Amino acid sequence: MRISTGPLTSPEIAYSIVRAGVEHDTPDIPYQSQKTFVAVLDNPAPGFTFERYLGYLDDEPVGYLELEYPQLDNLSNLDVTLFVRPSHRRRGVGRALYDLAVERAHAHNRKHLQSSTVDRHPDGGAFAAAVGANAGLAETRSRLDVTALDEPKLAELRAEAEKKAQGYHLRRWIGVAPDDIIDDLAYLEARLNVDAPSGDINWEAEKLDADRMRKSEQARERRGRRSYFSGALIGDKMVAFTWLVVDLDRPSHAWQNTTLVDPDHRGHRLGMLVKLDNLDHIRENRPQLNGIDTFNATENAFMLDINRAMGFRAVDAWMEWQKDL
Ligand SMILES: CC(C)(COP(=O)(O)OP(=O)(O)OC[C@H]1O[C@@H](n2cnc3c(N)ncnc32)[C@H](O)[C@@H]1OP(=O)(O)O)[C@@H](O)C(=O)NCCC(=O)NCCS
Repeated sequence: MRISTGPLTSPEIAYSIVRAGVEHDTPDIPYQSQKTFVAVLDNPAPGFTFERYLGYLDDEPVGYLELEYPQLDNLSNLDVTLFVRPSHRRRGVGRALYDLAVERAHAHNRKHLQSSTVDRHPDGGAFAAAVGANAGLAETRSRLDVTALDEPKLAELRAEAEKKAQGYHLRRWIGVAPDDIIDDLAYLEARLNVDAPSGDINWEAEKLDADRMRKSEQARERRGRRSYFSGALIGDKMVAFTWLVVDLDRPSHAWQNTTLVDPDHRGHRLGMLVKLDNLDHIRENRPQLNGIDTFNATENAFMLDINRAMGFRAVDAWMEWQKDL
């Protein structure tokens, strides 16, 4: 059997390969439509460039490689997405695409290849170990069943949080942040890579500012997503925030993204408060929602405690891998 690689020839082929892989890895998450997948390719977040390739067995495309190059920060990193159809694994296509990733990394002077795998199947982790990557950060995916919320418990958590958060007030928005808080949002979001545990993965603070935040959100909207935010302010300064994002083609599911409290304002239950508020926010706007998923570093006990108290339950274990060249 002949193995070869080449540039991506059509987004539909990539979609079919990635969909098969993702549905194998996380069958409980509704996978995006082809229309949304293509919109994602066409509307990248500002500050990243991409290269995309296919891997072939004889003449059949069965593998997909996407290389994401941060261009404004994290300049020695290269994020690698690699999928081989479950039916065509263990025949060397993954390794051929990986070798291409290494070649491209050298060409762009990138020193750290980064990727994640789920423990549900042995394939991804065994492959990463076989190519000599280091297991850098254990993560947990958790799910909140929005159809079975413990409402009295949530009300109790909110009352406790509000008591500890006196002097702060909440503000909600959808999509691009209002001008008066977008600088605070950029500052808080940029802290994520520094404040959240990152194990042995070489993630540096992102260089975010109002302009990049605005363009990122606009690109996300063009990708068919809608973002729901809740922030906590003291006076007119936002010091904590959280956000959820929905794929409008898959309205039953949302992702919980960053939650971050400014270090000077920790200890006031602001993390819990903004998350509870944003849960109400999204439920008011998206009545079809029935599940929210989130990733956390498994060692991030504080965030996991908040999630567990709200009703999130662990679904599966993931590993972030890094291969240093
Ligand atoms: C990881 C993945 C891309 C590998 O694709 P593949 O075409 O099967 O990879 P290869 O056939 O080139 O395998 C290369 C080596 O990885 C190791 N490997 C891969 N799967 C394995 C498994 N299930 N058990 C043990 N070793 C495994 C072996 O050492 C293998 O070499 P060998 O077959 O000569 O023993 C594929 O399993 C996949 O798409 N997984 C889901 C997405 C993912 O996790 N991507 C990787 C991110 S690092």
